[in-house]
Amino acid sequence: MSFTHRHLLGIEHLSPVDIGAILDLAETYVDLNRRTDKRSDVLSGLTQINMFFENSTRTQASFELAGKRLGADVMNMAMQASSIKKGETLIDTALTLNAMHPDLLVVRHPHSGAVDLLAQKVNCAVLNAGDGRHEHPTQALLDALTIRRAKGRLHRLSIAICGDIAHSRVARSNILLLGKMENRMRLIGPPTLMPSQVAEFGVEVFDDMEKGLQDVDVVMMLRLQRERMDGGFIPSEREYYHRYGLDAEKLARAKDDAIVMHPGPMNRGVEIDGTIADDINRSVIQEQVEMGVAVRMAAMELLARNRRAELAA
Ligand code: NCD
Repeated sequence: MSFTHRHLLGIEHLSPVDIGAILDLAETYVDLNRRTDKRSDVLSGLTQINMFFENSTRTQASFELAGKRLGADVMNMAMQASSIKKGETLIDTALTLNAMHPDLLVVRHPHSGAVDLLAQKVNCAVLNAGDGRHEHPTQALLDALTIRRAKGRLHRLSIAICGDIAHSRVARSNILLLGKMENRMRLIGPPTLMPSQVAEFGVEVFDDMEKGLQDVDVVMMLRLQRERMDGGFIPSEREYYHRYGLDAEKLARAKDDAIVMHPGPMNRGVEIDGTIADDINRSVIQEQVEMGVAVRMAAMELLARNRRAELAA
């Protein structure tokens, strides 16, 4: 088995072979998840703790389901009601939980780098479920699996990521992953929502949506991440929708069989027209959610194998 990592902290640390290993294993879980009996026992005996310091619907639910379907004992910490509110630091909270011998720790945190820091302090496998604007590796992996299944390949595609790139960990992880797999990447959005280091990414940048979408295979839309903005980044939502919201007219610039993606949560009428989001011939938004569970099962299984080997040594 080539996957030798102890943690899943970011796409940055993965090779194309690692990515392929996770996606191939995830394919088997797509099938399992469609059966009536969805149970496997690969995580049996292991303890998984989910620590979400930021709101989440999809990611938390899918990590929880993934762990349960694989037979782990899964605990969701209610971080709003935890001792963090009494002034305990992230590291002290993590060390406390670590003393209870979890095997897998799934962490989402508003600060970039917080999950990496935590991984250095505990002795279990840590999975990054999103840290600030830094990385969200399982999102990029589920996006990759969705693209691979829809397009039949994960290389030499023309892929546009549109909207609030600057504040998006989803964009960052996807740029890294899809770039490693040798796709042609385009970033589309107003200059105020482009990261300052964009020139280093090896991507094409557009502020005109219609030009940017010309002949792409994949259109990935992003939410305006207002919780990470500390000023006026856009004139108004109306104006934003007019210039950067995905509607039928703008989508017509992409290839006829281009797929539309969104990590959720989606703001209809802000970054995307609701009819496009619901169009089953174009939108793969629900498939992304489905692939999320399978990818998280695969990632946790690979980390658990390494953990069992480490504990046995
Ligand atoms: C994203 C996130 O939390 O980074 N959502 C998700 O995990 N599916 C994107 C977002 O919040 O807009």
